Amino acid sequence: MALNELISTATGAGNHFLILASICPIIFLLHNWFKLRHIPGPFLAKFTNIPRLSWVWSRRAHDVHIALHKQHGDLVRMGPNMVSVGDPLEIDKIYKLREPLNKSDFYHVILPMSKGKVLPGLFATQDEGIHRMLKKPIASTYSMTNLVSFEPFVDETIEVFFGQLDRRFVEGGRACDFGTWLQYFAFDVVGELTFSSRLGFLEGGRDIDNIMLDIWNWFEYVAVVGMMPWLDYLWVKNPIISRLRPAGYSPMVSFALKRQQERLEPLYIEKEVNNKDFLSRFIAAMEKDPSIPQWALLAWTSSNILAGSDTTAIFLRTIFKNLLQNPQTLERLRAELREASQTTGLSMPVTWKESQSLPYLDACVKEAGRIHPPFGLHLERVVPLGGMNVCGEYLREGTSVGMNAWVVHRNRAVFGEDADEWRPERWLGPEEQRKKMEASLLTFGGGHRTCLGKHISLLEIYKLVPSLLQEYDLEPLSLDKTWRIENRWFVPQFGLNVKLKKAN
Ligand code: HEM
Repeated sequence: MALNELISTATGAGNHFLILASICPIIFLLHNWFKLRHIPGPFLAKFTNIPRLSWVWSRRAHDVHIALHKQHGDLVRMGPNMVSVGDPLEIDKIYKLREPLNKSDFYHVILPMSKGKVLPGLFATQDEGIHRMLKKPIASTYSMTNLVSFEPFVDETIEVFFGQLDRRFVEGGRACDFGTWLQYFAFDVVGELTFSSRLGFLEGGRDIDNIMLDIWNWFEYVAVVGMMPWLDYLWVKNPIISRLRPAGYSPMVSFALKRQQERLEPLYIEKEVNNKDFLSRFIAAMEKDPSIPQWALLAWTSSNILAGSDTTAIFLRTIFKNLLQNPQTLERLRAELREASQTTGLSMPVTWKESQSLPYLDACVKEAGRIHPPFGLHLERVVPLGGMNVCGEYLREGTSVGMNAWVVHRNRAVFGEDADEWRPERWLGPEEQRKKMEASLLTFGGGHRTCLGKHISLLEIYKLVPSLLQEYDLEPLSLDKTWRIENRWFVPQFGLNVKLKKAN
């Protein structure tokens, strides 16, 4: 072949390659757009997940989601393959009890990697077989009927918490960074419930071994990268790269492993151990069924800490923040406590049973879960084979579909025109209205994968809030509408600064 011919053939092939290289992305983008072209949403979100990721990065994704639903209605396309649903009437369809929709790849990002392998977990596994294997042996441990047997663990942590508040803040009259102390409480109480051993934050008055910081950084990673899970496959879950990384456990996992090893020493069992904490119940479950793999123990204990500490802390801060910002509601709650203490009597700490006959407390707890649900992103699921209809529109199989509790909880048809406001009284209305609102709450998720620890966290909340208000007067030191109560470790404080005095 002559040189000229060779050059012209090569140039021709190069041209073809260039044409193909520029057409492919266009076809890919058009394909993305076409799949859900009938669902409205922001223009860029039809082609790429970058907008979704940037909303989470800005830490205001929940605000953006609310605004987009106001603009576009009940269905909003938030990514090329992602549809957000705002209508509470669709909860039971998306979060079914039977034949549930699978969790999306967002959850895969949550699963940790060890030695080139993904470690399954109860909260995040997408595999229903693994979920069943992990949940069945321990589900009854979290049931309402078991609740009271956990009460002593919460009592003990409340006692330690109040001891520290007295010593550090009441006696010296110093300002208390209350948001941070609620965070310490929530972490320590879950440690006590799980291992009969607090993580040590309350006694230390600090984040021991950076456990909280480590979990927070991990949440930050999961939330952002979860919007584009392929980034995680590329880097963290990459089997080759993950093997090159030095093997090591997070401080929280190290803490859990240490407690497990101590517990499995026969002498230690004889020496001390209250046999009613979660760890002993988990060990009993494993002894009962030897087919359960060893790693399940760590999956159970760590899911308690990961799923149950930060969430409860956010919930507690929401209640106190709103009570302090709306003093008339704080006064109404105090009046209810005064009356109960004068008539039926209230223990210190307030018992679960006593807390269940305080309707205004109940209204405040429900309102907090409504107005500031701790899980602030979509609970994403995958549309199954054959597709499904949601809000009257057909979604083809494989579409990611999800609801954000922040959006659903502001539905005016259900919660009223003042859905953006803190108003616990809405929960004291007629029975029918209350039931309708309760059925529209997604604070703890819904259906088959609903929160396993819901009763445990409510036990903590229903006991701590009235006990604390019985014991202390709180005077807010910095109160304005710009208060943020999400965990923001890179900002020096939560802003929930108070002066504490012993209540008369
Ligand atoms: C206020 C506190 C809490 C909130 C707001 C909360 C919220 C949630 C939500 C929304 C889900 C469902 C996630 C989804 O559908 O993808 C969930 C699941 C779960 N939560 Fe919680 N949670 C809280 C406390 C706890 C506590 C204290 C524990 C354990 C002691 C816990 C353990 C779990 C577990 C194990 C799951 C997975 C259940 C399953 O997939 O079967 N949570 N939680």
